[in-house]
Amino acid sequence: MKMRAAVLREIGLPAPYAQSRPLSVETVELAAPGPGELTLKIRAAGLCHSDLSAINGDRPWPVPIVIGHEAAGEVVEVGAGVNDLAVGDSVVLVFRPMCGACLDCASGRPALCGPGGVSNAAGSLLGGYRRLGFPARGQSAEAPPAEESSVLNHHMGCAAFAEYATVSRRSVVKVDRELAFVEAALFGCAVMTGAGAVFNTARVEAGARVAVVGLGGVGFSSLMAAVASGARDVVAVDLVPAKLEMARRLGATQVFDARDPEVVAQVKAATEGGVDYAFEMAGSVAALECAYRITRRGGTTVSAGLPNPAAQWPLQAVSLIAEERTIKGSYVGSCVPSRDIPRFVAMYRAGHLPVHELLSETITLDEINPALDRLAQGIAVRQVILPHGA
Ligand SMILES: NC(=O)c1ccc[n+]([C@@H]2O[C@H](COP(=O)([O-])OP(=O)(O)OC[C@H]3O[C@@H](n4cnc5c(N)ncnc54)[C@H](O)[C@@H]3O)[C@@H](O)[C@H]2O)c1
Ligand SMILES: [Zn+2]
Ligand SMILES: [Zn+2]
Repeated sequence: MKMRAAVLREIGLPAPYAQSRPLSVETVELAAPGPGELTLKIRAAGLCHSDLSAINGDRPWPVPIVIGHEAAGEVVEVGAGVNDLAVGDSVVLVFRPMCGACLDCASGRPALCGPGGVSNAAGSLLGGYRRLGFPARGQSAEAPPAEESSVLNHHMGCAAFAEYATVSRRSVVKVDRELAFVEAALFGCAVMTGAGAVFNTARVEAGARVAVVGLGGVGFSSLMAAVASGARDVVAVDLVPAKLEMARRLGATQVFDARDPEVVAQVKAATEGGVDYAFEMAGSVAALECAYRITRRGGTTVSAGLPNPAAQWPLQAVSLIAEERTIKGSYVGSCVPSRDIPRFVAMYRAGHLPVHELLSETITLDEINPALDRLAQGIAVRQVILPHGA
């Protein structure tokens, strides 16, 4: 079928994106689902910093590519062999497909799925298939320039900034139809990553002292999870004063401006020497350094931000040993999506994770480039695209 989608052709175009327009919303071809696949009508898709990283080159993917990885939709067609989902079901997309058979999947760590990592890096669906393409030349005024190859890649098995998506069954989790799509979408990345880091990667216990450095959709999800865990202190650190105000509203007990050169000393003074768990959720070495330094002796620093692959972090090695510290990386919140998405949705419904607070505004597909500027400037938390309107 023909549909509209946001295509990235060139990595590294400069901000402001409202002017450089890195994403071109155009008509592309979407093939029907193959065996083990399904086609979704994308009903809501959130803008995450990892989309910005695809555009600015911090997380390079093969181009041309249809971007977008945090979304929810409605099943409109199922491929052969998909017996547990039906047309009309609501699903949330997961940005690391889970093959279910590799050692990491079998060990309960699908965020590390080998075949899922290979297909994501290739810009294909699980198994290496592509279901996106450009309209045949001569048939459309929007056909690509003659020198462009006809290959069009999928972003992390999702390619969600589009009206429809054909994806692997292993890239979705079914959710209750009662859940609003605009909220369902946020569970796919922000909530799984941020809350998962707290509940799965760190396993924060009640009464712990916690800090979150970097308050976007991911960091605010960690903050909510820390509050839900019964943390005694919930410290929030960001560069943007409005984010700190929002953090207070969501239950932060102390907030600190990361631009202040004394921020580490201030957090340590406010928490009797530092926090038990510090979460780096910004994607920069400066934020990781801050998170490490505000972690108390014996504590754990968890990092989920994704800095540029060239970034290095100089660590004072002896501090790790003599202070019995732990540093943990967290990808997809160390989640098992089919277990954790329903669990986090239930916590949302019970009022423990106020996920709706992450929503800054809803936009159309055509408004995507200026929305990237608001994300880059830290003005918005989650802007959600409604490709078919409200
Ligand atoms: N590990 C994973 O599975 C995973 C999944 C999704 C996103 N991510 C990454 O997590 C990070 C956060 O994503 P997001 O969508 O919430 O981003 P975002 O851009 O919405 O929010 C990042 C926040 O960090 C703040 N910040 C930047 N530098 C800082 C510093 N030095 N100190 C304190 N705060 C600082 C910004 O002001 C902003 O509020 C990104 O790097 C993203 O690529 C990782
Ligand atoms: Zn994301
Ligand atoms: Zn696997």
